[in-house]
Amino acid sequence: MEKLTVLTLFGGNSSEHDVSTVSAQSVINNIPRDKYDVIMLGITKDGRWLRYNGDTANLPEDRWLEDEANLHPAYIVPDSSVGGIVEIVDGKAVTTKIDVVFPVLHGKNGEDGTVQGLLQLAELPFVGCDMLSSADCMDKAVTNALADRAGIDQAKWMGFTEYEYRSNPQKLLDEAVEKLGYPIFVKPANAGSSVGITKATDIHSLADGIETAFENDRKVVLEETVFGREVECAVLGNDEPIVATPGEIAPCNDFYDFDAKYVAGTSGLFIPARISEEQLKAVKQQAIKAYKALGCEGFSRVDFFVNDEQILLNEINTIPGFTSISMYPKLFEHSGVSYPELIDRLITLAIQRKESRR
Ligand SMILES: Nc1ncnc2c1ncn2[C@@H]1O[C@H](COP(=O)(O)OP(=O)(O)O)[C@@H](O)[C@H]1O
Ligand SMILES: [Mg+2]
Repeated sequence: MEKLTVLTLFGGNSSEHDVSTVSAQSVINNIPRDKYDVIMLGITKDGRWLRYNGDTANLPEDRWLEDEANLHPAYIVPDSSVGGIVEIVDGKAVTTKIDVVFPVLHGKNGEDGTVQGLLQLAELPFVGCDMLSSADCMDKAVTNALADRAGIDQAKWMGFTEYEYRSNPQKLLDEAVEKLGYPIFVKPANAGSSVGITKATDIHSLADGIETAFENDRKVVLEETVFGREVECAVLGNDEPIVATPGEIAPCNDFYDFDAKYVAGTSGLFIPARISEEQLKAVKQQAIKAYKALGCEGFSRVDFFVNDEQILLNEINTIPGFTSISMYPKLFEHSGVSYPELIDRLITLAIQRKESRR
């Protein structure tokens, strides 16, 4: 069988750039090379696109950017007749055909539908959710609104733009306290990796938290605090998705903030999640329901809060953390799908989706 050329996109103009380079290193090192050739295309923090031909060991901490001999400006072109990338080598444009794209980009400008829109224009098959679903899942206000419509239980919430807030802050603050009660989670609608998220316990921390959230996005979401376990589901598939046994995160801090996720290194991970068999089953059903309601395809990690009474959707990550020790691959490994096999399945799903849409 002829090998397929996979283009892996990494980095990105996002607060989660550094997480992406680590995820991408794992993905690229584990793509089955008997079936696929790999091309690496990195996006810098300031938005430059560069093809990288060097060692994947240089991806973390952006060491690849120091390897200048192995870097060339390169672009996915929206012109679908090209079917791949154009690279600038010695002042000349060189075209390379691509069979499938694996965007390993977290957060804004990569997980939010922007890159997916470009790939749809280019008519290239790609791993993961399409433009609309990516955008819907990126924006917590949109996710929550669609989940409400689909009858999926979640924390009480409200959302507003910066303009709406500035027009009458006191009214919105009063409304939030009345509707949600303290403590209140304050989030930028579009961010990720807990960036800009705070937990407010009084009117001052609420107002301060809203300002912090507005530093990251022009829209803010407030949520009542849910007391319960953080249970995460790995969902895989297009029209008939499957879900692995749910796992649980036990944050080492008051909540799963940036430090607890990436710095402290002492958060716990449990597979299966420490909930009853019945609850495991119910969470899996909710995960599939949410995945379908938000139009997900390929893969997503669907996150919940679970306590004795409730199973509440928190959020959907359309390009979840993907190092070999990240929750998503670990959940499928526990269910008998190895990391390289998982990558193979994701690429196959991308090609199948493209073929079914012709
Ligand atoms: N409504 C809530 N109740 C309790 N904890 C929450 C709530 N919302 C968020 N958290 C905590 O904050 C963390 C980050 O919030 P999340 O919405 O998942 O944002 P991100 O997209 O940055 O991961 C969660 O993993 C959880 O620990
Ligand atoms: Mg989260």
